Amino acid sequence: MRISVIGCGYLGAVHAAAMASVGHDVVGIDVDQVKVDALSAGRSPIYEPGLPELLTSGIQSGKLRFSTNTADTRAAVIHFIAVGTPQSHSGGSADLRYVDAAIEGLLPYLSEGDLVVGKSTVPVGTAERFTEAIAARGAHLVWNPEFLREGYAVKDTIEPDRLVYGVADGDDYAVDQLNEVYATAIEAGSPVIVTDFATAELVKVSANAFLATKISFINAMAEIAEVTGADVTKLADAIGYDKRIGRKFLNAGVGFGGGCLPKDIRAFTARAEELGRGESVAFLKEVDAINLRRRERVVELVTEELGGSVFQKKVAVLGLAFKPNSDDVRDSPALDVAVRLNGLGANVVATDPQAMKNSRELHPQLVYGSTEEALADADAVVVVTEWPEYKDLDPTEVHSVVRTPIVVDARNCLDADAWADAGWEYAGLGRQVKNGRARP
Ligand code: UGA
Repeated sequence: MRISVIGCGYLGAVHAAAMASVGHDVVGIDVDQVKVDALSAGRSPIYEPGLPELLTSGIQSGKLRFSTNTADTRAAVIHFIAVGTPQSHSGGSADLRYVDAAIEGLLPYLSEGDLVVGKSTVPVGTAERFTEAIAARGAHLVWNPEFLREGYAVKDTIEPDRLVYGVADGDDYAVDQLNEVYATAIEAGSPVIVTDFATAELVKVSANAFLATKISFINAMAEIAEVTGADVTKLADAIGYDKRIGRKFLNAGVGFGGGCLPKDIRAFTARAEELGRGESVAFLKEVDAINLRRRERVVELVTEELGGSVFQKKVAVLGLAFKPNSDDVRDSPALDVAVRLNGLGANVVATDPQAMKNSRELHPQLVYGSTEEALADADAVVVVTEWPEYKDLDPTEVHSVVRTPIVVDARNCLDADAWADAGWEYAGLGRQVKNGRARP
């Protein structure tokens, strides 16, 4: 199929490359010339495992190209809208200006029988707004939300858990066309759910709202564990064995961040309020509040561990990305913790395998360094993103380079006993402090 993808960020760049990899002819469109130049040269502007290889092979095979010119969409019949829908400056609602601009920009180039496929996460009711203008060009609209996880985006795009098509009543043509686009995934077993626009839009936000709620649920249990002497990691294991609950997304820690979960639950709340159903999702405000409290708790723990003040204490902050395998620092709890500690007068040295460049752009006031530079003579070590290289640190080796063996494990990702046995004071979230320093 001949495909265009409008918007080449975390979603669109991966989608374009993945579609080319399964044999389609793809043009990716973005307004950012620097990004388009990088992508055209086979360089990924983001850190996403597997993406550079797909870009290179797509470009070499001639199946994939990038352009800043929307007129280049004329070569395509299927047009994916993959632009961002960030939180608006005025409140929690989604800022739809990029979606509006992408579709308006595309309209003059649409031909009879073309398909416009919305992938961006939008408030329920958005797709409906575009139906008339798209139909006037003889084209069809589908809302086809994306469920990819950063860090696994390539796999999630090529082998999605499910495909959801929101279509106008009886639009079998659109369904057939999209089935052809996703033929490889469908043959490999991905289920297809065909529904209306509103359901498709809601599937996306409700999935993210559910995941956010699951994380905040376990983090709320962590708050209770902290005042009762319980261990939230054991609790998560125990309840997770119940198949109805499941262990996934029950990792208590510094909470969720990134370009999706936080802004999606806020946009959902704002949209529900607009619809007069604010009370239906009022709990999402609590989900948000629990999540943000965890960042404060990490700072509080570091402060407690350092005897009441972080002022002029050297703190090694390990991790800046919102999660491992990503360079994304949008609403990153890790970066937030680094900034807060720095604001309290700690001598923070922050490090991350991939996210230092993005962090520096947002927070040039922080001191960044290698893991070795961060750890050298540290008064406390905080692990805020569970990158494998931090999980695999040898507590005995690290002990020999820090000033004080205090570790705050804000992701509960270290082996608490091993660190305590190596002489560390270990503080996790939602569990008791293990004082290895008292041991002989
Ligand atoms: C999320 C969804 O998982 C995807 O399905 C969705 O497509 C995507 O948003 C989107 O809307 O585009 P992503 O933001 O890549 O994907 O990250 P997740 O893997 O969901 O993690 C989100 C945050 O939750 C991270 O900060 C992570 O560290 C945190 N988290 C995750 C926890 O604190 N505990 C857990 O148990 C799991």
